[in-house]
Amino acid sequence: MNEFIPPAKPLIGDEERAAVDRVMRSGMLAQGPEVKAFEEEFSAHFELGRPCVAVNSGTSGQHLGLLSSGVKAGDEVIVPSFTFAATCNSVALTGATPVFADIDADDFCISPAAIEANITDKTVGIMPVHLYGHPAKMDQIMAIADKHGLQVYEDAAQAHGASLNGTPVGAFGTFAMFSLYPTKNMTSGEGGMVSIADPEIERLMRLYRNQGMEKQYHNEVVGFNTRMTDIHAAIGREQLKKVGAWTKTRQENATFFSANLEGVTTPPVADGAVHVYHQYTVRVPEGRDGFAAALKEQYNIGSGMFYPVPNHQLKPFVGDTADVDLPETMKAAAECLSLPVHPSLSQGDRERIVEAVNALAKAGA
Ligand SMILES: Cc1ncc(COP(=O)(O)O)c(C=O)c1O
Repeated sequence: MNEFIPPAKPLIGDEERAAVDRVMRSGMLAQGPEVKAFEEEFSAHFELGRPCVAVNSGTSGQHLGLLSSGVKAGDEVIVPSFTFAATCNSVALTGATPVFADIDADDFCISPAAIEANITDKTVGIMPVHLYGHPAKMDQIMAIADKHGLQVYEDAAQAHGASLNGTPVGAFGTFAMFSLYPTKNMTSGEGGMVSIADPEIERLMRLYRNQGMEKQYHNEVVGFNTRMTDIHAAIGREQLKKVGAWTKTRQENATFFSANLEGVTTPPVADGAVHVYHQYTVRVPEGRDGFAAALKEQYNIGSGMFYPVPNHQLKPFVGDTADVDLPETMKAAAECLSLPVHPSLSQGDRERIVEAVNALAKAGA
């Protein structure tokens, strides 16, 4: 059988290894100059035009971002249900309630109309997710937020470098979080980077990250230890030099798939949107699970389902949401199938993926 094509493949080179070695030899392992440099370089690289704060995971970044923005028990934050649980966990961890809104069929992202329908007098913010690397409808979402006086917290975990009408994701909201988990478009091992519009929210975020201290042993708030280490930052700095070329390859892979796949629904790209293809997600209208199993068993090709169980049906949230009706979310959860699109694919891999998917679609697998 042909070699296995994995659904994701982190790329770590000699440059990352040398950078880690440099930090190890320096003796300064915890948060220090590498983290500071990574924060500045990340903001500059993605042209965010605002400062960034690095933390130990994307989830910590969202949680601290929400706390720093003043989100608290009794508040409501509108979120998509069709996302990774971290989006909703971060809201719930503040004591606020995640309120689940449906997605749009065209981009798998939260629907502006569904946001409007879910606004109550407890709503303080909206957390759109730029799912799979496609920007959410930020022009409409920012207009809704302005109209109702709401904050916007971008979940850009999967969308490093994506943009809408020339504005990069991460430059729209009150804050935005980018995940640096190994399978993301770039990594620091584990980690998260948060871009922040308001200097006071940025200051609070830095306090919460470090036990509430700006000046050592003069703690101002009850804080956490969610610092990024210099070891992780050094990896991230090297990855920043490579992520642009990797994104271009992801986009070329996606273009090849969209031109050649038959019998599945390929992912559309909205006018004005730059999609960075963290995932290349097709819809298999019937029998998605069998399709994925056959792809693996017959063709040795991995795939992913992001996400088969929407958050409003997950145990921590199901009690609050018994009457939630999210038809597009349910449809996407049943149909979505993410094919390998990572930059390590060879032309032979791309052709194998197309042949396998087309054959299975034709056979009605
Ligand atoms: C949409 C989304 N939100 C949040 C997260 C959380 O990021 P992390 O795994 O870095 O905590 C992830 C990634 O895992 C994600 O895909």
